[in-house]
Amino acid sequence: MRDQPDSFDAGLLTRGAKLKKAAELRAIINLAPSSSNPMHRREMLKNTALSAGLLVTPRQLRNFRMPGDFTKADFGSNFKWGVATAAYQIEGAWNEDGKGPSIWDTFSQNPKNIKTKENGNIACDFYHRYESDISLIKQLNMDVFRFSLSWSRLLPEGTGRVNPKGIGFYHQVIDRCLEVGVEPWITCYHWDLPQALQNKGGWTNRESVNWFSEYVNLITQKYGDRVKNWMVFNEPMAFVGLGYILGLHPPGYRSIKKFNAAAHHVTLSQAEGGRIIRANVSNAHIGTTYSCLHVEPKNEKEKHAKAARKLDALMNRLFIEPALGLGYPMGDLNLIHGIEKHMQPGDDEKMKFHFDFIGLQNYTRLVARHSLWPPVVWANEVKPAKRGVTEITEMGWEVYPEGIYKILRQFAAYKGVDKIIVTENGAAFPDVVEGEFVHDKQRVNFFKNYLENVLRAKQDGVNVQGYFVWTLMDNFEWAEGYKPRFGLVYVDYPTQKRIIKDSGYWWQEFLK
Ligand code: NOJ
Repeated sequence: MRDQPDSFDAGLLTRGAKLKKAAELRAIINLAPSSSNPMHRREMLKNTALSAGLLVTPRQLRNFRMPGDFTKADFGSNFKWGVATAAYQIEGAWNEDGKGPSIWDTFSQNPKNIKTKENGNIACDFYHRYESDISLIKQLNMDVFRFSLSWSRLLPEGTGRVNPKGIGFYHQVIDRCLEVGVEPWITCYHWDLPQALQNKGGWTNRESVNWFSEYVNLITQKYGDRVKNWMVFNEPMAFVGLGYILGLHPPGYRSIKKFNAAAHHVTLSQAEGGRIIRANVSNAHIGTTYSCLHVEPKNEKEKHAKAARKLDALMNRLFIEPALGLGYPMGDLNLIHGIEKHMQPGDDEKMKFHFDFIGLQNYTRLVARHSLWPPVVWANEVKPAKRGVTEITEMGWEVYPEGIYKILRQFAAYKGVDKIIVTENGAAFPDVVEGEFVHDKQRVNFFKNYLENVLRAKQDGVNVQGYFVWTLMDNFEWAEGYKPRFGLVYVDYPTQKRIIKDSGYWWQEFLK
């Protein structure tokens, strides 16, 4: 197809005939069952276009796709494919080999805090099974393993005394990755603050910037010789929002004041972390990740449009804009007006850091409406079920593939965002084990549809250079417990047996 002349024009048809053929063409694009052979589909399209007398460029032909009607090669040879995980969600060994407790250990010991009354004490037992789990990543043909380090495994009291067994564990994980040919990508912080530091106020204490700096200094010095890809934070809005304002995650506060204090110190730490990685790791590729989602108003009424602007500022803009030098989105978000109280002279400069890439994590979209609850925000979500949405994941999230296209465009439009990597995308659906199989068709379709939109964004000029699946294997989904399963690999928790799901085999084939 790539050798064709620039356009096809099959001569003259009457306008009516052309319209009829155009409709046929659209029908093929929209309705025809997805052919397993993209070339065959393109032939069909070309022939229909030719007989319709339509002008079609080879590029347009390449872009005619059904879900899944694309190949790995369409994303380019440098595109990174990976799986993402987090320490607390998979490691287990919560009190082994000198590890100190984290806020998640403390929080999940209280069954009232977790919907299923479970905890992450054992999780996927990755601490003891990392060798075979990393082999699985290779088996799925993934290039990258994104994982986080447990701060309190390394520094049991958060600062000061280093735990050599903790340091040794991550050396082994990194070495295993390199041995099997998988690139290790480290997230410094994925929500598990050492409990000892929470006892001193956690992120509400400005000292947290120094604690975090000490930790990042340690890990970059230990692992920076072999690990070049680093992410400072995982989803600051999620851990600050859920932990300090909604009270659903540790430390379980519901306080706007504490939220603002924590948000500011996390923002300072985000930039400081970037600077430390830059100083300590030669040729480092530095990013940080954000939970983001396309926000739109329920309808065109101004009050709903305003609600959408507020929620967009809160969910998408709060943590990236100060790093880009734009400051906090004060104008659109009265909730953060108290943040200024925590700012000291020079902080505007200290909040800035030029990241090599932005990690974009997307699952769904948000439809906003004006609302009297919660106060101060005066904006809320219209839940998918209330909008008549039928495709909803086990987390209650709408499946909305076009959302990833829209949010990629939104983030790419920032001056200073040079490169984006989708560092998380995936879905939890109820899985059924049938013998040695899990036929998770819905998840396969989810990936096809979302990937198609990532590709569309790329073809429309967004510099997206990687895509990591959330997640390698089913794991502890925080306050939701083990019920939502996001993995490409099924975990039978009582036996810790792993079963590759159909979605895992789909990826294996796609990346072959
Ligand atoms: C965001 C978080 O980074 C991850 O820890 C979580 O499990 C997934 N999204 C799914 O909710």
